[in-house]
Amino acid sequence: QMSPVLADNKMLKLKKSCYKCNMTDLPQGLQNFIEEKARVCQPDKIHICDGSIEEYNALLELLQVNGSLQKLEKMDDCWLALTDPKDVARVESRTFICTKSMRDTIPTPKHGFKEVDSSLNLRNLKCTALGNWMSPEDLEYELGRRLPGCMKGRTMYVVPYSMGSVGGSISKIGVELTDSPYVVCNMRIMTRMGIKILGKIEDESVFVKCLHTVGVPLPTKMTIVNNWPCNPEMTMVAHLPEKNEVISFGSGYGGNSLLGKKCFALRLGSIIAKREGWMAEHMLILGITNPQGVKKYIAAAFPSACGKTNLAMMTPSVPGWKIECVGDDIAWMKFNEKGELRAINPENGFFGVCPGTSNSTNPIAMKTIQKHTIFTNVAHTADGEVYWEGMDDNMVSHGEHLISWKGKDWTKDSKEPAAHPNSRFCAPAEQCPIIDPNWESPEGVPISAIIFGGRRPQGVPLIYEAFNWEHGVYIGASVKSEATAAAEHKGKVIMHDPFAMRPFFGYNFGDYCKHWLSLSKEGRKMPKIFHVNWFRKSDNGQGSFLWPGFGENIRVLEWIFKRTDGDDSIAQKTPIGYMPKVDSFDMEGLNIPVGCIQELFSLDKQFWLGELEEIEKYFDQNVNISMPNEVLDQLSSIRERFLNI
Ligand code: PEP
Ligand code: NA
Ligand code: MN
Repeated sequence: QMSPVLADNKMLKLKKSCYKCNMTDLPQGLQNFIEEKARVCQPDKIHICDGSIEEYNALLELLQVNGSLQKLEKMDDCWLALTDPKDVARVESRTFICTKSMRDTIPTPKHGFKEVDSSLNLRNLKCTALGNWMSPEDLEYELGRRLPGCMKGRTMYVVPYSMGSVGGSISKIGVELTDSPYVVCNMRIMTRMGIKILGKIEDESVFVKCLHTVGVPLPTKMTIVNNWPCNPEMTMVAHLPEKNEVISFGSGYGGNSLLGKKCFALRLGSIIAKREGWMAEHMLILGITNPQGVKKYIAAAFPSACGKTNLAMMTPSVPGWKIECVGDDIAWMKFNEKGELRAINPENGFFGVCPGTSNSTNPIAMKTIQKHTIFTNVAHTADGEVYWEGMDDNMVSHGEHLISWKGKDWTKDSKEPAAHPNSRFCAPAEQCPIIDPNWESPEGVPISAIIFGGRRPQGVPLIYEAFNWEHGVYIGASVKSEATAAAEHKGKVIMHDPFAMRPFFGYNFGDYCKHWLSLSKEGRKMPKIFHVNWFRKSDNGQGSFLWPGFGENIRVLEWIFKRTDGDDSIAQKTPIGYMPKVDSFDMEGLNIPVGCIQELFSLDKQFWLGELEEIEKYFDQNVNISMPNEVLDQLSSIRERFLNI
């Protein structure tokens, strides 16, 4: 049984000794933060999390007893949460940045803001294709009708955590107050959490203040579905860069509630990074070693659900090459005194999409998630194993009876999916069998190349390389991809997702481009920039995938590896950048028809002229006067190169 910190809320007896830690021992800035928020949210109890395994186990048991988690008996310390079906993904329409000046946060669109539905309950929210903004006054109003008493009947957990290894030169500290023990358990996997962080908090200025509540004070008249309290009508995820603060109300789902991840490491992170001259990016980081034993590191930005986790954990099909994983979602990157770009993965775990993950697509991820893992919204068997669409299907072909993510009986003839398309695993990074030996290196790993990519069924070749840094910034700015299940979008429409950061920009995208342009300086070893597309389809996007992907992607990484060594013999100039010379690209042992290879690398002038026009229009309408000319000049140069052939 757990005897956590129990501070009597009426008196806020914070001086009382607490669970393995004395409140008066807490740094003053942290005490102030806790007191300020506890006074508003009025939790029954306050629990300072120490991050111990005993505490973790006690919280899992609590969640099991109250019906929020089930133990997966056939697995080793694995757990399953089924959410309210209304709370299954990030809610971009309810996510915003609050600054005094709107221009700091979003470019002013040429033809006005998006229509905002009053049912959002977000007064005067300004919505654009590149982020949402609210004024401090309107935020004050919205907090006023949400926060007072929002934690009544619940415990406020205090979660101190580090993004990046504790004490690392690129690492940063956060403290999340949450009334969700599910969030605490996931935070313990996804961050370095607990008492060891407290020594790093000298005053308020050194940590990002995060407040999270499911928004269902007790007792409640609301219907709680699946023992997953949430408040979808009032959900909001607010970022206050001027106060170094995040406030998330009404959703327990990962991207909205594990505030170290998207909210801190990307949105606030990108703002801090701009201020301090570094980069906070939506990128995986991998180590790649060639058959001669030479090792390099590569970072890659793909939109959600485009296979960042699969690439980061790839098993190469070509003998002699080795891939090791540093991170699968976020990179913090800083130039050191020697001018090398150094990257860390600020996270401590993987919060990955389950459907499509299998022993054939990502055996390394499958090995990573066999123990100490929290699953959310997957299907399971009566005897306690997990299942999802695209897992190797023995279970289902044997006609096994499953329980779907909605808690209903499920067989392969059922109409609805067994697992939610955005169902997730949450697993410790150290369990990854190919975790890089330097993955926790405090100074980060040296980055030789940056890759952008997306799901592009049509027109975009397998690989091309920017002519220079400015061209690479244009390539990042023009990333587009087919929509995914990680957010609330419907259907397979191709969306712009600049730098794969569209849902995660902390500030005006035009300024973000300027920041990227400003990073190229005399004396710095700038990484080469590439664009890849594993998802091109035959018959102009209507047919089947031209490229097998997965382990075969090593052939593309091999070309990139050689290019970062300066091998000019393998590249040729095209209007969009350098591309592999015919026959320079390693196709040995690849069983695909010559026609498909030609199609994979083909450039269609009419497609590209149309593409450039569409991107130009997108920039003009959405980035408008905030867009730096250097980016527009790159677009014009590409068009000229096409018109000259
Ligand atoms: C999330 O939605 O919680 C999340 C981590 O998103 P993504 O898959 O985009 O990284
Ligand atoms: Na549940
Ligand atoms: Mn992501």
